[in-house]
Amino acid sequence: MSSTSQRSLPLNLRRPQHLPFTWTEDGEIHTGLWHSEGGWPAPERLEIIDDRTNTDAAYRLATSGTAMLWRGDFHNARQLLGSLGRRIDRGTRKPSPDLTAAFRKHRADAAHRAQLLGMLLIPLDADYTIPLRRSPDVRLACTQSYGKSDQPSVTSLRELIGVIGAHEWRTNGVDIPALGALIHPHYGVFSPVRGEYLDLVAAAPLPSGTLEDLVAFDIGTGTGVLSAILAHRGIRHVIATDQEPRALACAIENIERLGFTDQVEVAPADLFPVGRADLIVCNPPWIPAEATTSTDHAVYDPDSRMLRGFLGGLALHLEPAGEGWLILSDIAERIGLRSRSELLDLFEDAGLTVAQRIDTRPTHRRAYDTTDPLHAARSNEVTSLWRLRSVNSGTEAGTA
Ligand SMILES: C[S@@+](CC[C@H](N)C(=O)[O-])C[C@H]1O[C@@H](n2cnc3c(N)ncnc32)[C@H](O)[C@@H]1O
Repeated sequence: MSSTSQRSLPLNLRRPQHLPFTWTEDGEIHTGLWHSEGGWPAPERLEIIDDRTNTDAAYRLATSGTAMLWRGDFHNARQLLGSLGRRIDRGTRKPSPDLTAAFRKHRADAAHRAQLLGMLLIPLDADYTIPLRRSPDVRLACTQSYGKSDQPSVTSLRELIGVIGAHEWRTNGVDIPALGALIHPHYGVFSPVRGEYLDLVAAAPLPSGTLEDLVAFDIGTGTGVLSAILAHRGIRHVIATDQEPRALACAIENIERLGFTDQVEVAPADLFPVGRADLIVCNPPWIPAEATTSTDHAVYDPDSRMLRGFLGGLALHLEPAGEGWLILSDIAERIGLRSRSELLDLFEDAGLTVAQRIDTRPTHRRAYDTTDPLHAARSNEVTSLWRLRSVNSGTEAGTA
């Protein structure tokens, strides 16, 4: 069997792909869409496989760059994906005392794993029905993640499992004790599953002034969770920004569901909205490294772009007695990707002074996973809320 993608983008672009795709099956030419939110290009070579294909054969095909379109039982495809994953993982989780090297290897292994597992493909009908035995109904999950469809498509089973998982998160929500409510993350939007940083925002002392009059900005709002916490604390005017359409839609939905629409405005912006605020919070991605897929932008911040942008613009957007709250874990320091003095220099260069640092320790499951190659870093990680003020607050006023 052979396949040709009418267009395929180079691997390093990694933007979501929804491109026309043509393949041959039983001598017939099939056409549809190639879906890859992770930005993988459509495969150049493709074979049809089914329940008779074992792990060794699938591994050989994947490592030779041949994608596999599954035509067997859906559950068997999931099992094959699991066994393929275990096969790829052999020998990749050895801990290394050099944490920077361990981090780089961990990311390279993860990218390699994603590429190989992404070779196992699933067909979808025009309405996102999976035309395979024992398939789940993924129509709503796919519509939520990919948008409406009017033609058949092909996607990787690995990605489809992510879409199904995201749909479950979105439906069930994530419990946020600091809010006493659920937040419902959308596909591709940073999920607030690590509660420790939320508790910091829920407990840090608010800048002086009456709650009625305080204005807050939430830069890079994601699900809207920090805006919701600020609104829950009584702040009457919060402006939440993000530049990802999925995050904006997700934040609007959560704010509405929680009944905070009178207090929180969600607006598209590259970092800051226009104007000044008494409190500006930002939880940028914590790790300064390249994002390899379009869906891990919320975790990796290449060259600390968002962190630098936030710090660089903070003084100009703070009211004279205002405060910026930067939420940052020291994981990047622990794996040797940024030093504490570099961070302090960024504050100084931006004309900021530290009023207080409030620390907490993560309690999430990964912090206790001794098989994690980054365990030594994660088990000691400290998450901090830095209360920052402008050193020139008096003279900066009115200049923005
Ligand atoms: C680590 S997530 C934090 C989300 C949320 N504030 C939270 O704490 O759960 C970072 C967010 O910043 C957004 N972001 C990244 N660069 C941005 C920019 N230049 N302007 C606005 N938002 C940005 C991302 O889309 C993402 O939603």
